[in-house]
Amino acid sequence: DWDASNIIEDQVAKIRKAVGNHAVICGLSGGVDSAVAAALVHRAVGDQLTCVFVDHGLLRKGEVEQVKHDFVQATGIKLMAVDASEDFLTALKGVSEPERKRKIIGEKFIRTFEKAAREVVAQAGEQGQDVRFLVQGTLYPDVVESGGGDGAANIKSHHNVGGLPDDLNFELVEPLRLLFKDEVRAIGSELGLPDEIVWRQPFPGPGLGIRIIGDITRERLDLLREADAIAREELNRAGLDREIWQCPVVLLADVHSVGVQGDERTYGSPIVLRPVSSEDAMTADWSRLPYDVLAHISTRITNECSGINRVVLDVTSKPPATIEWE
Ligand code: XMP
Repeated sequence: DWDASNIIEDQVAKIRKAVGNHAVICGLSGGVDSAVAAALVHRAVGDQLTCVFVDHGLLRKGEVEQVKHDFVQATGIKLMAVDASEDFLTALKGVSEPERKRKIIGEKFIRTFEKAAREVVAQAGEQGQDVRFLVQGTLYPDVVESGGGDGAANIKSHHNVGGLPDDLNFELVEPLRLLFKDEVRAIGSELGLPDEIVWRQPFPGPGLGIRIIGDITRERLDLLREADAIAREELNRAGLDREIWQCPVVLLADVHSVGVQGDERTYGSPIVLRPVSSEDAMTADWSRLPYDVLAHISTRITNECSGINRVVLDVTSKPPATIEWE
């Protein structure tokens, strides 16, 4: 007898009690979890909440606009948006090792967030408020998989806002900590968030940075962003969005294979489609997408993304493979 409105009521009461009159800050990632966590906290304490959105330049097509406009419009939440893409790309230059990428992105993210947080703290201070809480959209599977559960191994260093310096000594508010993704979606809907946000598929914190196999450049990001947008558009058009858990689109940037287009020999990189079905991302199976949808995606990507001459399908479950390639 799980019920979204009961959980909301319960969490709102708990948040109000914990937070009191203090100000609250929340990092938005563009994903469902942080959006729902923020909306829940906003329901509880209104304008005591300020959200910070860091654009690390590794986001998908249209995502920045979606957060800056659609989310704000739907919720009325106060938002501070920071464009740090230049900074991230510089730090990532020449880096191809996955855990190093994750580490750099995670650390940069914290430093950028920290700077924004200091501004929020200063602004709140001018209004006589004290920012004492940090909201995080941590879900139950994150808790378990990051080794915070019952001693489970740390499989990948999941990237959330932790590790802030001592003088930014926030207490954590994690209203989704006991929930699974489908429950978070139900709560988001109940809170009145639009479908584009509630039904957005999971997207990793390090973004497209861990979907370029090889080092990260602006050109590679643009190419992957375009291929990813095509895959999403076609899956959406085919009505498969809600059936699959997510479909990472991966660029094998350092791999080249021979192709032919028109009368020309090409020597381009492959794009991998990784559609998966899952309940909670702890395990997953590869999605048996209809062949015509796959064919359509493949044709469009090879036609529209110059430099891509091959599209391949990942048919591995998790385990043994993880959902993301890095
Ligand atoms: P893996 O690749 O570990 O992914 O099977 C499981 C789920 O987590 C997402 N993912 C992340 N989410 N920060 C996140 O917020 C991360 O660093 C991260 N890495 C993976 C992934 O997209 C999948 O849904």
